[in-house]
Amino acid sequence: MQGKHNIYNIRRVRICGSYIITGGKKLEGEISASGSKNASLPILAASILNNGITKLYNVPNIHDTKVMIEILRNLGCKVKRVRDKIVIDSREVKKYEIPEELMRKMRSSVILAGALIGRFKNATFCCPGGCDIGARPIDLHLKAFENLGINITKNTGYIHCTCDTIVGEKIHLDFPSVGATQNAMLVAVLAKGTTIISNAAMEPEIVDLQNFLNKMGAKITGAGTKEITIKGVEKLNNTGYKVMPDRIEAGTLLCAVATTGGKVRLNKVVPEHLTPVLEKLKECGCEIEEEKDAVILQAPKKLKAVDIKTMPYPGFPTDMQAIFVSLLCTAKGTSIITENIFENRYKYTNELKRMGAKIMVEGRTAIIKGTRKLNKAVVEATDLRGGAALILAALNASGKTEVNNIEYILRGYENLDQKLNALGAKITKEVR
Ligand code: EPZ
Repeated sequence: MQGKHNIYNIRRVRICGSYIITGGKKLEGEISASGSKNASLPILAASILNNGITKLYNVPNIHDTKVMIEILRNLGCKVKRVRDKIVIDSREVKKYEIPEELMRKMRSSVILAGALIGRFKNATFCCPGGCDIGARPIDLHLKAFENLGINITKNTGYIHCTCDTIVGEKIHLDFPSVGATQNAMLVAVLAKGTTIISNAAMEPEIVDLQNFLNKMGAKITGAGTKEITIKGVEKLNNTGYKVMPDRIEAGTLLCAVATTGGKVRLNKVVPEHLTPVLEKLKECGCEIEEEKDAVILQAPKKLKAVDIKTMPYPGFPTDMQAIFVSLLCTAKGTSIITENIFENRYKYTNELKRMGAKIMVEGRTAIIKGTRKLNKAVVEATDLRGGAALILAALNASGKTEVNNIEYILRGYENLDQKLNALGAKITKEVR
């Protein structure tokens, strides 16, 4: 445990804090989703490709976007945030090495490699650590770089990528990796010739990255399908762009209401990004109405058990797995969950068991036997989505639950406690 004088540890930037949640209240009302963390991070990195000024809107003010901005500044960018607008001036970028301690703060900083290589044909970074959900290697990223003629050398945990010219090429991804798809796109934008990525990831965040890059003057088609074509261009131009809504935050908020038997109108979302999640919520017994940029959910008194297999988009998202497991802990019946994307994404279930959940984990499968209620407890977040799962469990349990290590949750959710309190929850935050 950090000493009280050492709250910020540069290596892990731990803001030791807790949520105290008084559960048992039905959540009702109207709230809005924030901008997408997983669209903002690659788009922030991609702003390096333009030797000029980029304005971004709807970027959530969360730990991970703050770290990404810190890295951009470390590389020489001038970045300022004025409410929900971020202005990035990347004309002074003068170094191509991402410092280790910043790399370790956030695994998705590897996306900066593609941007640095794309513009400067040069990038040095350390192997991003895995985290509590799996090894998270970057072999597919490196294979894509090699396909495009990048020379890669490794020593003492650092990876050096350089080349004289980037020539467009065919790239086949062994697995539709989101990050590898994004990195390949960034390297190819200013290449000579055309690049075709096959077996590409189809997540909405890939489409958002394509839309942003094309607004800067790139020539990309096919994002959202298995095959993406990037025609190299000479240069990019200044632009402004509004980041898409966060579909995982939206799913989390809907599940938080569902676990309390409540009703919500959730604004500023893209319903079709949520289809696999909405289908499962309907299977659980929720009534769902979709509007152009809103979803209305009415939960039943008691949810029904469902089976879930996580898959690449448009399958059920792995990032919603923990949140749904939490929901199903008090559903009627037994649910079977299969996690097909990450090899170690059930760590949080030990904390749910401390609240009385009946969960058996065997490898990539979790079997959940619904119980009537969960009990209050003191629990610890182990990762971002596992932490959100504990909040939902606490909303369901009666009495006061303490969720510790909330810095994991603050990485990816903007004002989650305030949004839930606006629906009638009783959550207080303690930062030590
Ligand atoms: C992105 O991570 C998201 N992060 C993750 O969200 C999300 O869970 C994941 O995509 C899958 O949808 C961001 O967008 C910042 P992957 P990413 O490459 O790109 C293996 C959250 O909670 N793999 O699609 O790292 C990998 O180990 C986070 O917001 C390789 O083997 O995911 C994993 O098993 C968590 N080699 C699978 O592919 C590689 O080179 C999917 O990873 C790359 C990946």
